[in-house]
Amino acid sequence: MFDTVAVVGATGAVGTIILELLEKRNFPAKKFRLLASARSAGKQIQLLGQTITIEELTHDCFQGIDLLIASTPDETAAEYLPSAVEAGVKVIDESGYWRMDPDVALVVPEINPEAALNAKGIIASPNCSTTQMVLAMKPLYDASKITRVIVSTYQATSGAGLQGNVDLTEGTKAALNGTEYKYKAFVHPIAFNAIPQIGSHKYEGYTSEEMKMVYETRKILGDESILVCPTCVRIPVSNCHSESILVETERPISVAEAKELFAKTPGITVVDDLSTSTYPMPSTCTGSDDVFIGRIRKDLSNPNGLAFWCVSDNLRKGAATNAVQIAELLSKHSD
Ligand code: A2P
Repeated sequence: MFDTVAVVGATGAVGTIILELLEKRNFPAKKFRLLASARSAGKQIQLLGQTITIEELTHDCFQGIDLLIASTPDETAAEYLPSAVEAGVKVIDESGYWRMDPDVALVVPEINPEAALNAKGIIASPNCSTTQMVLAMKPLYDASKITRVIVSTYQATSGAGLQGNVDLTEGTKAALNGTEYKYKAFVHPIAFNAIPQIGSHKYEGYTSEEMKMVYETRKILGDESILVCPTCVRIPVSNCHSESILVETERPISVAEAKELFAKTPGITVVDDLSTSTYPMPSTCTGSDDVFIGRIRKDLSNPNGLAFWCVSDNLRKGAATNAVQIAELLSKHSD
């Protein structure tokens, strides 16, 4: 157990859920500290029976903290987290900034817990679209090495922070009323639309979000040979990312075997009966910590291919839940 646990970015979309999870899961700690920008410093928040005043994040604020969970913009994580590590704090970071640093562990606790336990510096939590995909891939990969993945994502507006959902609501109202709305989180209207760009151009016509799925998948599964072809699309759904995933394995995996492998994996729930129109959807998965899988079927064009549909709450397993699970793992091994 850690004596003092801090949450940086406690006022944000993910930070708020981190606090909710710490409370719900009764996270063991003597003291909690909450940090955010100067804009929020001084505000008070209730957590596990304590009234906590939000402090401003500075380079000198880390003394006395044992474990820190951070969910901030990349530039904030880049600037402040090295000071926390220098002060001897164990750091779990939700941002995208540190994930691919060779000295940083990139962890999904169900897949590579040892990376978190052996980490010397920052422990990063993966990108939300990657986390749900690798959790789904892992049981298949263990049964027969996955050589290639083709994935198309249908990503929720909450993935763009609180402003993403404001844009969805206000933009939809404006579209229905025939009025103007200036979008802040998206480069095109998201109301009644699908935007095939998340992030900026990164490599050979692929966006930064898409390349995260390539690089992070290889790092978490520890296999640089996996071929990944992603297309990431923002859709007008407020919460939960959906993914159409096609994997190719060294030996064929049947639908029955895949269902069994998924069903016995902690953190995965199979929801799959096309005859009764039963499959996971954002509306049924929001607020849950699991990764949901349905529409499991053979690839008609390749005997070694398996296709499925995967939905998960991007703010939970895609972000807050994964970070809190890493924190629980570290806490269990801290004595
Ligand atoms: P604040 O609310 O004080 O701006 P979201 O992803 O929902 O936009 O949340 C981002 C989180 O990161 C918020 O808690 C925000 O705090 C925090 N944050 C943003 N910039 C900084 C900064 N420069 N220093 C500390 N916290 C920051």
